[in-house]
Amino acid sequence: MIIAVDGPAGSGKSTVCREVAKRLGLRYADTGAMYRTLALASIREKISPSDTNQLIELARRIPLEIHTLTSGRFEIFLAGEKVTETIREPAVNQIVSLIARIPEVRTEMVKRQRALAKSGYLIMEGRDISTVVLPDAEFKFYLDADPSVRAERRWKEDQAKGTVSPLSRVQEDQAKRDEMDRTRDVSPLRVASNAICIDTTGKRVGEVVHIILGKMNVKREKFNAFYAVTRRFLWLLAKAGFGLEIQGAENIPQHGGFIIAANHRSFLDPVVAAIASPRQLTFLARHTLFRNVLFGILIRGLNARPIKRASADRNALRLAAGLIMAGNGILLFPEGTRSADGGFLTPKGGLGYLAVKLGCPVVPMCIKGTFETFPRHAKWPRQGKISVRLGRAVHGDDFGKGIDDGDLYLLIVKEVMRNIEILFSSA
Ligand code: CDP
Repeated sequence: MIIAVDGPAGSGKSTVCREVAKRLGLRYADTGAMYRTLALASIREKISPSDTNQLIELARRIPLEIHTLTSGRFEIFLAGEKVTETIREPAVNQIVSLIARIPEVRTEMVKRQRALAKSGYLIMEGRDISTVVLPDAEFKFYLDADPSVRAERRWKEDQAKGTVSPLSRVQEDQAKRDEMDRTRDVSPLRVASNAICIDTTGKRVGEVVHIILGKMNVKREKFNAFYAVTRRFLWLLAKAGFGLEIQGAENIPQHGGFIIAANHRSFLDPVVAAIASPRQLTFLARHTLFRNVLFGILIRGLNARPIKRASADRNALRLAAGLIMAGNGILLFPEGTRSADGGFLTPKGGLGYLAVKLGCPVVPMCIKGTFETFPRHAKWPRQGKISVRLGRAVHGDDFGKGIDDGDLYLLIVKEVMRNIEILFSSA
């Protein structure tokens, strides 16, 4: 899923995009920061904003490193130095639009922006994202607001950061930048023909986010009342019987498809995962479990879907991909099977394949205590304590570019398992 958002300064893009990114588990990319970093580099190298040739040369060689993270965080590095804050300085504001109007500079930046978007699952904001950079984005939005409101927002932001400049100066700067951005020859700021416009004047961030999610028709998965009631019951049972403790549930994205990857030691694990996840999960279960008609109906009612182990994993992956694309959360055990001795097993690659192909977030979950309370060959659970920890979502793009897909699958799986083990030792 790719979302492109354009609009003038102070229209609320950054705040809104960050929030949408968080809710959907998307990566967030701020393209203005790239032009700003270029402007900062030009100031440091004492290149005049009118020296087009030198600026083009700078754009081609500038060592930019960009970290786009789910959770709405975005960091930009210039030659290894984090400049995410420095590029907001007034000196940068003054020249950035002069530099951004040079066609060859834009070509360079657009190339890098497209590379960022290559693996999908991203929200990108700027001035020309829906018109030039990502014209094929599934969703396009254009945010705008009254110029005076936009200037006031920026002025308040500056004040909060401790930068004191009079409102009139901010207004002037912004008007100048707007004018330059709208009238330049190459990729001027304009509304894409198929973009949805939102006037953010007088609207709170939450309202704009709500409008965006509504327009995208992003639904939570179908609510299953039987699942909800059963989960509630099991939750009470687990609290009373095993002192179940859950931490990090906020790491689960509020909308859209996702994977929970958990360690597996006991029959209780799927149940514990369902209790710990505030969003309903779908489970892939061995088809033999559905042989008993009544039990089959019961687990189907609890969102279990049958897979045939014997017919290779391809069908299972296809089923999982379909479920995730339809906006569901699924539970996977990267180790493939229950550990017999309570230790960690070597993970399989399927999880990485799904994460790369679908670009969806993978939330690591560590389940501790189920092995002790209900080990592999036990008939009944024993007394004990169960705890669950969820970590920050892992995403294929956390690993940088240029990695062969096959290697990337394994990297993701390893990283997820590493996180689970860290959570395990801290639990
Ligand atoms: O945060 P603010 O809205 O003030 O600006 P920004 O998004 O950081 O962008 C700074 C400047 O970079 C803009 O005024 C544009 O001149 C330029 N820019 C652009 O030309 N194309 C983009 N896709 C993003 C920014």
